[in-house]
Amino acid sequence: MKPVISQDRHTLRALMRRRLSAKIFNRLQEIGRLADAGGVSAYLVGGLVRDLLLGYTNLDVDIAVEGDGMAFARRLADRYGAGVKVFDRFATALVVFPDGFKLDVATARCESYAHPTALPTVEPSSIKDDLYRRDFTINALALRLNATPFGELVDFYGGRHDLSAKIIRVLHARSFVDDPTRVFRAIRFEQRFGFRIETHTLTLLKKAAASDLVRRLSGPRLRNEVMRLLSEQAPARAVRRMAECDLLRFLHTGLALTAHLTGLLSDLGKSLAWWTKRFPRRPLDRALVYFIGLMDELSASATHAVVKQLALPGDQANKISLAKKHVAPALRSLARQRSPQPSETYRTLADLPDEGLVLLVAKARSTDIARLVSAYVTTQQHVRPSLNGADLKALGLKPGPIYKKILDRLLEARLDGEVKTRADERELVKKLAKV
Ligand code: CTP
Repeated sequence: MKPVISQDRHTLRALMRRRLSAKIFNRLQEIGRLADAGGVSAYLVGGLVRDLLLGYTNLDVDIAVEGDGMAFARRLADRYGAGVKVFDRFATALVVFPDGFKLDVATARCESYAHPTALPTVEPSSIKDDLYRRDFTINALALRLNATPFGELVDFYGGRHDLSAKIIRVLHARSFVDDPTRVFRAIRFEQRFGFRIETHTLTLLKKAAASDLVRRLSGPRLRNEVMRLLSEQAPARAVRRMAECDLLRFLHTGLALTAHLTGLLSDLGKSLAWWTKRFPRRPLDRALVYFIGLMDELSASATHAVVKQLALPGDQANKISLAKKHVAPALRSLARQRSPQPSETYRTLADLPDEGLVLLVAKARSTDIARLVSAYVTTQQHVRPSLNGADLKALGLKPGPIYKKILDRLLEARLDGEVKTRADERELVKKLAKV
């Protein structure tokens, strides 16, 4: 197949200059010059090329080198005083410039898979082979960086056409078998860009989904794909697509996209928007919010099994289990009380991570409860009694479990405005100590 080279290479050069920061643009030109000097060909590859053509920002600079990419990465690092970390086994290198700018360099390669999901065997090869091993045509575009001609689009597989036609298309029929994570990637790109998975590709995808290929992925790899999907702007649609392709079963066989779950995912979107607007300086793990939402109809033990299977990191696992345990009772408790005392709200919400609070607001569908959560986050959560253990000791109290009881009571009194000053607190301690 003849590569489709851009009709007017200057167009892409101009596009690069317009859409990339001056820093990245200049660095790419320097890389091209260095490639010329070293007698190798260097290309910009991967998501950045796609996003450049689509007009999206992407800061992941991936360079593929026809020739010895590792030697090139070292030369690049030498020339610019950058740090370089070479992963010889994979023929990839990370170059970190003194100003913190990072890029990945890889030797252009062809890959073969001993069996599905196995790590591929890699051999140095041409850019054409390097692009062929990639997931979709839209991700198999490259831009030549050598000075002549800098910015030339290398398009062997019709990626530019598919970008214009808004199509996700695999390069060959074994793509999903070689790497089943691509099943999720196809859905991710389809939903992110509002593209369509081309008919033959969708047939292959559904065939892969109907087999047990995905089950062969390690927990962390599956988790990574699912979390990346849930990190997208509108994960509810992606989850629907996962359900259509019968992929939810790989998380748990009991997981299904019920009407309740569909409603909840949509309410989570609203609840997250509310949180971001209300607390812009308190970012949270959006993907985890949706993940916890997905688990809503699973029992605590089924959820635990999913967490284990995906090998979620400890902090995420902990937040999931706290939310699972406390959201439903908190919801019942808040719904029961018309206007709870601040200390009651505090007690009800204190064990929930922020992600659990967002879930609670989504499930409550009540502005009153959103207001209570808001007051808790902005005010109650930060209230502390002014006396501490040392002060209790100074007041002559014998250390023991009584300290916790008194400090809890002081906090409650502070929250509800029963005490306002240190002196008030001291008075209360004296009263409590007598009993
Ligand atoms: N790639 C692939 N198959 C995979 C993963 C990655 O072919 N399973 C290739 C694609 O060419 C992709 C590139 O590696 O463009 C970089 O992968 P990655 O950084 O994961 O994705 P991006 O395409 O950059 O997507 P995103 O914008 O979500 O980071």
